[in-house]
Amino acid sequence: MHADPGERPGPSVELERLYPNPRTITVGELLGSLALERFAGSDRPYTIANFVESVDGRAAFQGRSGPLGSDVGDRSLFHGLREIVDAVLVGSRTLGTERYGRMTRDPERRQRRVAAGLSPEPLAVTVTRSGELSQDIPLFEEPEARIAVFAQTAVDTSRTAANVQVHRLDPGEMTMTTALRRLRVDHGVRVLLCEGGPTIFGALVEENLVDELFLTVAPSLTGGGTAPAITSGPGLAELREVTLAWALERAGTLFLRYRFER
Ligand SMILES: NC(=O)c1ccc[n+]([C@@H]2O[C@H](COP(=O)([O-])OP(=O)(O)OC[C@H]3O[C@@H](n4cnc5c(N)ncnc54)[C@H](OP(=O)(O)O)[C@@H]3O)[C@@H](O)[C@H]2O)c1
Repeated sequence: MHADPGERPGPSVELERLYPNPRTITVGELLGSLALERFAGSDRPYTIANFVESVDGRAAFQGRSGPLGSDVGDRSLFHGLREIVDAVLVGSRTLGTERYGRMTRDPERRQRRVAAGLSPEPLAVTVTRSGELSQDIPLFEEPEARIAVFAQTAVDTSRTAANVQVHRLDPGEMTMTTALRRLRVDHGVRVLLCEGGPTIFGALVEENLVDELFLTVAPSLTGGGTAPAITSGPGLAELREVTLAWALERAGTLFLRYRFER
């Protein structure tokens, strides 16, 4: 199967499922039956992460993830995952580097979310210790966007058009565990999607807050350099084992899904 550059990254995009039960399957079929909200706990949302990496294990090329995730299968999964979650968590550096816009722009996706009992687009969530958020990105200029910011300093968001709620946390409380508990309790978030970056994902893994990882392996190498892997920050004391839940392929790109034990 070959990538068609003009193909829309919608739910009808087909992938080859290699494991389990090999067959051709659409992204809509794959994601439509997940119903991840069933697994939400009372203490935190069910938390999934989505990353793309190169064959040599890097999460960015020339400072951006975009060149790695250009395949229509990857974009289809990326937007498809956004379609089924209550909130999307993005680190403050990724928010600025990738110049985030609104989370769900496509009217068809917004309608499908509403039909499924969700808000038209997911709550955008970010965390910052410094309080230095890049507020000049399209997301903050979008009147319909809802954004929750967890910060340990004051953040002035009065000049943004978006609906921003800042949760001020004491430095001792400024953990991902606290942020996720507040998302569950204050915002009713049942399913949270983390789109990175590596620092935020590393913190989630370290605090044992991840339930699943959707990992796209792009058929390319970045070479040397300083680009991170999909996790950054302190290493774990012990190897964290994960279980392969599915493996799919399209045009040489691999789509892997891993489960973490709680
Ligand atoms: N391959 C992929 O799928 C993928 C996905 C996302 C990003 N990326 C790439 O990754 C790079 C950016 O990632 P990154 O690791 O540098 O940054 P990041 O994870 O997006 O954001 C890190 C920032 O989050 C805040 N933060 C982190 N831990 C925190 C905590 N426990 N409490 C409060 N705030 C916390 C800090 O913000 P303050 O500095 O404001 O305090 C920190 O500087 C970019 O090159 C991007 O393209 C790749």
